[in-house]
Amino acid sequence: MQFDKAKLAAFYRDALGDISLDALDMSRMPAHVSIIMDGNGRWAQARGLERSQGHLAGVASLRETVTTAVRLGLDVLSVYAFSTENWNRSQKEVTFLMQLFAETLLNELPLFHQEQVKLRFFGDLEALPQKTQETFKQGLAETANNTGMVFALAVNYGARAELARAAALLAAEAKAGSIDPASIGPADVEKYLYTAGLPDPDLLIRTSGELRLSNYLLWQIAYSEMYVTPTLWPDFTRWDFLRALVAFQARERRFGGVAS
Ligand code: FPP
Repeated sequence: MQFDKAKLAAFYRDALGDISLDALDMSRMPAHVSIIMDGNGRWAQARGLERSQGHLAGVASLRETVTTAVRLGLDVLSVYAFSTENWNRSQKEVTFLMQLFAETLLNELPLFHQEQVKLRFFGDLEALPQKTQETFKQGLAETANNTGMVFALAVNYGARAELARAAALLAAEAKAGSIDPASIGPADVEKYLYTAGLPDPDLLIRTSGELRLSNYLLWQIAYSEMYVTPTLWPDFTRWDFLRALVAFQARERRFGGVAS
């Protein structure tokens, strides 16, 4: 996707940082960056605050990250906001997060319009509270004609559930006689993933130092480069994003082939 050189330079000039934008090769940018945002709870705990305060601080990081991704000209930014396992958290935290998602989305709609960001969701939204579902639908409808970066939020998402859903949809097609089971290949599966039509992530970032995939995009990250930073999500800035991209560009991607 296009990026505005002057806007990008100004965006990085606006804040103090310890790495130069010159370290980045703009001709070798990833198309899709995905982020496992982790560490809100620990960030709050370290300050003697409630976990909810960590999530609020996480929203500010997310806003900066979306803006950075747009300035950098990425095609897709996706983030893991709530997993199928996160329902096991306290009722209080789950309720807070669901309200936060709805409120944040409404608050950010003007920014999405200004930056031509197009929203998308990964996950089973039917299980979400009515109000959250309605807000998500509104966000989808209002950004549907935007032509810039796709911003995808994984909410009530789990890769195993996603793959089981794809299998069920393919089985239904086979039962109806519209597909031959023997002919099913990866492209048929991809058609039924939440990410259908999007490029696979080139780079997967995980904050807070955990070396786990946590049931996230297991199919799509087959050849993604991983970058794990000890930085907790609320502390993640445009400079951390830059560092991840510079590290990504230093890797040699082989997609299962041999070194050139
Ligand atoms: C991980 O930290 C964070 C979450 C599970 C929630 C992420 C939500 C936000 C950043 C708000 C984003 C808002 C929108 C609209 C998507 P954790 O709670 O797992 O932290 P811990 O591992 O330190 O406990």
